[in-house]
Amino acid sequence: MTETLILAARQGEHRYQVHVGPDALAPLSELAGATDRVAVVTCARVARTPAARRALAALKRTGKVAVVVTLPDREAGKTLAQLERSAVKLLAAGLTRRSLVVAIGGGAVSDAAGFLAATFMRGLPWVAVPTTLLSMVDAALGGKTAVNLPRAKNAVGAFHPPLAVLADPRALRTLPSRELRSGLGEVVKYALLETALLGRVTAAGAGCPDTALLAECMRAKLKVVEADPSERGVRALLNLGHTFGHGVEAAGQFERYTHGESVALGLVFAFRLAALLGRVGPLAVAEAEAAVAGAGLPTRLPLRLARRAAALMVHDKKRTASGLRWVLPRQVDGARWIVEVGVEAGPLAVAAAVAEIAGAKLP
Ligand SMILES: NC(=O)c1ccc[n+]([C@@H]2O[C@H](COP(=O)([O-])OP(=O)(O)OC[C@H]3O[C@@H](n4cnc5c(N)ncnc54)[C@H](O)[C@@H]3O)[C@@H](O)[C@H]2O)c1
Ligand SMILES: [Zn+2]
Repeated sequence: MTETLILAARQGEHRYQVHVGPDALAPLSELAGATDRVAVVTCARVARTPAARRALAALKRTGKVAVVVTLPDREAGKTLAQLERSAVKLLAAGLTRRSLVVAIGGGAVSDAAGFLAATFMRGLPWVAVPTTLLSMVDAALGGKTAVNLPRAKNAVGAFHPPLAVLADPRALRTLPSRELRSGLGEVVKYALLETALLGRVTAAGAGCPDTALLAECMRAKLKVVEADPSERGVRALLNLGHTFGHGVEAAGQFERYTHGESVALGLVFAFRLAALLGRVGPLAVAEAEAAVAGAGLPTRLPLRLARRAAALMVHDKKRTASGLRWVLPRQVDGARWIVEVGVEAGPLAVAAAVAEIAGAKLP
């Protein structure tokens, strides 16, 4: 029998618990019972799954559910128009600052519901019940909440850490395989940030990580968030693979590659770039590529798209005034590396890495 693990999360003055395992939802009734009303925020696709039904049933038993807000699926739910629609529903349902928002869904739902909780009546507590792999190991942790503007993802948001994160891995049983793989991109990222995890992540391959491995990934993220709660420095470590990765996502018009697939390509790119800069040896590149490929994620993309990704990544919002800064590994002994932020790389090295990831030879 798998046990439910409880992790202690700290973000500035705020402390909360992360429960992961088959009994993760157990605290829901107590959390809801301690408030005057509960607003559940979800989306239709998630609401139909057994995992969401279990969470909703547990909440309803407390008699505190005043409203269920069903957002449009994915990014369509992360808009200011939907924020207004949701806030109006909360107001009509009589929610106050003593009420609770519960987000049941993937990262799109937790980002939107978290931002609703951050702003409604100037802020009320919220609980995340993540239902995708990506939201369990990434989006629901760390307190970043946001909605999109038409041409800018996450452009309007707030830091508003949850009261608790309750992750039951059984929710992942209904997750489409492409969404699972997308989450695996972040799982591999944690393994490359914390090399002690590399063996376990490689062994787990393209399957669903078990409770213990999920908890390790969560710990890896929480550790970085705790060290840098408002994202001024080392939290940029979590962007490993994301500089080129964001370029890939844009180059594929956000359709051809999922976020996780783009991050996977970005991870390979980061290791190849680091090798070209003399920061790591070929073995580190091979290990990173093996972890990515083992998770069923791509390690190569067509040259045309790789070039386009490189051109688009300069539009990345995390770019500093002095130009692109990379998150790259550096070998510390024969076998291991550490990851560093704020690394510069010249255009020639970047062009060479673009050629390598496309499997092309430079002229
Ligand atoms: N706040 C942060 O720190 C942070 C970090 C990473 C990503 N994000 C955000 O997270 C979002 C992506 O999250 P995501 O990858 O979870 O995608 P998502 O929330 O868009 O969900 C992907 C799809 O899976 C469906 N789904 C969710 N759970 C399911 C389940 N258990 N069974 C079947 N279907 C299910 C959803 O309805 C949706 O169609 C993006 O908006 C991104 O910006 C935020
Ligand atoms: Zn990511």
